[in-house]
Amino acid sequence: MAQPEKKLLNTLNGKIYEAPPVWMMRQAGRHLPEYLELRARAKDFLDFCYSPSLATEATLQPIRRYNMDGAILFADILLILDAMGRNVRFVKGEGPQLDPASNAADLDKFPLEKLLDRMSPVYETVSRVKTQLPPETTLIGFAGAPWTVAVYAVEGKGGTDKSVSRLKAYQEPEDLDAMLDILVETTAHYLKAQADAGADALMIFDSWAEGLAEDSMLRLVIKPTQKLIQRVRELGVTQPIIGFPRGSGAMLAPYAKETGVTAVGLDTALPVKWVNEALPTGFPVQGNLDPLRLIAGGDEMDNRIREIKSALKDRPHIFNLGHGVTPQTPIKNVERAVRVIREI
Ligand code: CP3
Repeated sequence: MAQPEKKLLNTLNGKIYEAPPVWMMRQAGRHLPEYLELRARAKDFLDFCYSPSLATEATLQPIRRYNMDGAILFADILLILDAMGRNVRFVKGEGPQLDPASNAADLDKFPLEKLLDRMSPVYETVSRVKTQLPPETTLIGFAGAPWTVAVYAVEGKGGTDKSVSRLKAYQEPEDLDAMLDILVETTAHYLKAQADAGADALMIFDSWAEGLAEDSMLRLVIKPTQKLIQRVRELGVTQPIIGFPRGSGAMLAPYAKETGVTAVGLDTALPVKWVNEALPTGFPVQGNLDPLRLIAGGDEMDNRIREIKSALKDRPHIFNLGHGVTPQTPIKNVERAVRVIREI
């Protein structure tokens, strides 16, 4: 019997559907009661990510509940820094914290094989999820982009204006570039391991691309991502890659053209009509409903979903949010959004 088609994967390969495939960033997580119940079983968040049975279950929960077209591996972009010895902690209410790296040598304490081996529970999760997913669901592996992970490494936390790392880029350019190079190489192998374990597609989160000057965007976001993708391809990975430079604004256009990504994620602030003018015809995009629309719900949510679908109907489009699902999101609004997205 023929396998049912993977719509999300086909969209990344250029196919256009009348009703776009859908998944949502942070679809697994705190808005789901079944996640909170599961989460209570692990001591801390890193243990949770490193438990293939818990992480597999967390990956599958939103698929069971919403029948999303895409499943995102349950893990975190900071695992790589923890493996590098930066002692990542998730402090309740304060976001992630870690021991700041003062120079590139701080990210280069262990041989590559050892780092990759430390993260092996993640590849185990990918292969377990793969065997349990419906055949029409696309499995997405991911990693943080070199710049975003470097920001966490330098600042020791997220959510800042990144001034320490931006200034370091100007004042100690060689050391910052060396950090990015270490992250490029490690991340390339990490993504390759996920691809080998069965990921159908890969995504690169550049969550701190926002607010960079044009020259910095080229140097810190576009160039390292280009190197990363080149390395991933050299390692033999053929899966499509979605790049998500959140807050890149107009620099999304050179990002899409120069990095080698297959598709780009659109953050909430990007005007969808501008996207059509700025990106080449046929270039796949993913996005970009405001996650807060899912809290408010109602006809306004439905109308905005229809507007986004309509504006992007002539190019391959994966429906998603412009950022992650928030913990306060009512399940019934996610169900309703998925119904509207799937309307023809
Ligand atoms: O459905 C999914 O998307 C699950 C997989 C996933 C998580 N984090 C799980 C998670 C993915 C793809 C990420 C990526 C990630 N992690 C990013 C990039 C996306 C973005 O948000 O820009 C970033 C910046 C991180 C770093 C990180 N991890 C932050 C800022 C936080 C929030 C801290 C907090 O206290 O809210 C995390 C923790 C985290 N990662 C949670 C989840 C479900 C919440 C942890 C919990 O259960 O308490």
